[in-house]
Amino acid sequence: LRGDQVIVVSNREPYIHEQGPEGIVVRRPASGLVTAVEPVMRACSGTWIAHGSGSADREAVDRHDRVAVPPGVEDYQLRRIWLTPEEEQGYYYGFANEGLWPLCHVAHVRPVFRESDWEAYQRVNQRFADAVVAEARSEDPVVLVQDYHFALLPAMIRAQLPQATVLTFWHIPWPNPESFGICPWHKEILQGLLGSTILGFHTRFHCRNFMETVDRSLEARIEAEYSTIRFQDKETLVESYPISIEWPEPATVAAWPSVAQCRQQVIDRLGLPQDLCLAVGVDRFDYTKGILERLNAVERLLEKAPEWIGRFVFVQVAAPTRASLDEYRSFQEHVERVAERINTRFGRPGYRPVHLLAQHHEPDAVNELFRAADIGVVTSLHDGMNLVCKEFVAARDDQQGVLVLSRFAGAAREMTEALIVNPYHVEETADALLRAATMPPAEQRERMVSLRSTVREFNVFRWAARMLADAGRWRLRARVEAR
Ligand code: G6P
Repeated sequence: LRGDQVIVVSNREPYIHEQGPEGIVVRRPASGLVTAVEPVMRACSGTWIAHGSGSADREAVDRHDRVAVPPGVEDYQLRRIWLTPEEEQGYYYGFANEGLWPLCHVAHVRPVFRESDWEAYQRVNQRFADAVVAEARSEDPVVLVQDYHFALLPAMIRAQLPQATVLTFWHIPWPNPESFGICPWHKEILQGLLGSTILGFHTRFHCRNFMETVDRSLEARIEAEYSTIRFQDKETLVESYPISIEWPEPATVAAWPSVAQCRQQVIDRLGLPQDLCLAVGVDRFDYTKGILERLNAVERLLEKAPEWIGRFVFVQVAAPTRASLDEYRSFQEHVERVAERINTRFGRPGYRPVHLLAQHHEPDAVNELFRAADIGVVTSLHDGMNLVCKEFVAARDDQQGVLVLSRFAGAAREMTEALIVNPYHVEETADALLRAATMPPAEQRERMVSLRSTVREFNVFRWAARMLADAGRWRLRARVEAR
């Protein structure tokens, strides 16, 4: 696989140019997808096609709508696609985020399917397919299609570039066939995805759900033994590839402020008590992340273990996301009300148990919080993988800190030395927080060492390498068969 043939397609772009008060600034988005795919792209160069969403994005590109990134390093090309407000509304907010997002996550939010959103989704998928064809330098590029924004893209690419190798990765869960059948266009979505050479999910469980969904909806041949689906004379490999993060280089870690410095900075900035147990959550402000459930657990902890009042502090970073959707706005208001209630109930002068920071934090600031924390809290109600928990352990080269992790995140299957909880069970989650707060340093170290070695070994390059190696074998076989 030659590096210059690799094309990535995702909705979210890895670098966003924004107009700031003092000129243009470049921002990194809060997106698990971007966190994972960006290091891979830096390593293999090529072209990344994505929606140009920043207020100064147009100023940064050349006349082909391309800009070399990362800024100053220029490892690969970012090709921006401009969407009209109507396209963004129908395709991104509407079909992708009011339809497919709740459809695939069991978070008890009803999906909404509008005819006009579906039309925009099809149109925008076609626009990205045309961009792939325009960017392709050969008849057989390797195209990495990312996520639920582009379910139709694989078949569209195949129609124009039949020899392309299309690797599609679905970053969110795949539900059972009954749930997926709610979508009025479920057959079209499945047919679109079956244009892929390889279709990847985080877990075997999601692969099985997908194969069963196809089995119920289409005339396709499922070969469960080989994990393949043959549909209209074309074969797709359906495989699990657990995604991960880039493990930090020793030189990077050496340049980090010490854990003690990080802790003091957080204490000073937020005005926290010196002698404290600090629990930290970092998420997009999304209803799938279980933020309400974790606040309820914090409240329960303070009720049942009042000796922690004045000392247990929970800091939640909640990056604004999809805020023009009602569901997200009302969720945010609800979380703010609950945080306020807990602070009124248990706060006192100089002590607020819950700090809700509803702003975007750049990676360095997140790393500082992770290093300052005693407990990292991830309580997603449902999550494809969740990379926050992996970032938390990567930040802890001191081998201290306890991870409390939802069993409904894909990561729970790998990160078994975390304290695994059912976030719907408030009592259980509160108990896990308490156990974490009082865990002896030796036990923390034992668990953390093991978690760190898992994430170090199964890092994002291994994710990409496994998928690309499978693709390489597939291409070879296709060439041999064609002779
Ligand atoms: C999830 C999705 C990604 C998405 C990210 C951020 O991780 O799987 O595709 O980029 O959320 O959401 P946003 O809508 O801001 O891109």
